[in-house]
Amino acid sequence: MNFSDRQDTCYTNYSLRLEFTGSFNTNNSDDILQIDILYFGKFRKNITMLNLLKHPLLTHKLALLRRKETDTREFRETLKEIAGLMAYEITRDLPVKNVIIETPLGKCKTQELAVDVVLVPILRAGLGMVDGISNLIPTARIGHIGMYRDHKTLKPMTYYSKFPDNLPNAVVMLLDPMLATGGSSTDAISVLKDNGAKIIKLVCVVGVPVGVERILKDHPDVQIFLAGLDEKLNEHGYIVPGLGDAGDRLFGTK
Ligand code: PRP
Ligand code: URA
Repeated sequence: MNFSDRQDTCYTNYSLRLEFTGSFNTNNSDDILQIDILYFGKFRKNITMLNLLKHPLLTHKLALLRRKETDTREFRETLKEIAGLMAYEITRDLPVKNVIIETPLGKCKTQELAVDVVLVPILRAGLGMVDGISNLIPTARIGHIGMYRDHKTLKPMTYYSKFPDNLPNAVVMLLDPMLATGGSSTDAISVLKDNGAKIIKLVCVVGVPVGVERILKDHPDVQIFLAGLDEKLNEHGYIVPGLGDAGDRLFGTK
């Protein structure tokens, strides 16, 4: 995968063009980034699989999250706000149903959400994204996947999972601020699928091309949402420039 229009080490403000050069056996990047999908029984064409969300507020808050001077309290608050801002875009295509309600002054034909939403943070750092989204969707139920990367191999180890019973019928948002090698997210998506999840949106704050490529390859049916796309991983598997260790910054463990 080649990322064109590259002008700096983080791409939040730049439009993105992707060329897939992996094993998908296609010369047309749109085939990878846009697929046709069965969505709540309706066939939808050209769903964009990689979504780099751009908004001045989001960019501003991401800059704050990245700053090394940002302390735990501010990091926690900012991650929550970023998740809420991202949710606004991510939920744009949720189905709604017609309802008639009564205002103090009369009847009103309007619409309500017609689908369950389940939020699944990957522990630990994904926990920091839950409140920002559940404040907007208070009916969302919440599952958990516990996972950590082995420091030497960078392979994810799963230590916990628990989901609400509406997982198979819900829009599932998998939450993790960091998409690095992609190992944790791809394994977490497999766990969700093994438990019946069908519509999964992966919501990460910062990613790198190698992680994005891994998800597109392993789970081409999963939409990815990012607020920033950075250049690379360092030798320890950390995103550069990234924001450091998200779990440690969120919980003040270092
Ligand atoms: C971080 C992060 C992701 C994972 C990303 O978690 O929150 O879950 O690394 O890396 P990957 O894409 O290479 O798998 P970590 O393993 O540090 O666990 P923690 O949140 O408990 O600190
Ligand atoms: N996990 C993190 O917390 N940060 C990174 O940069 C990569 C993985």
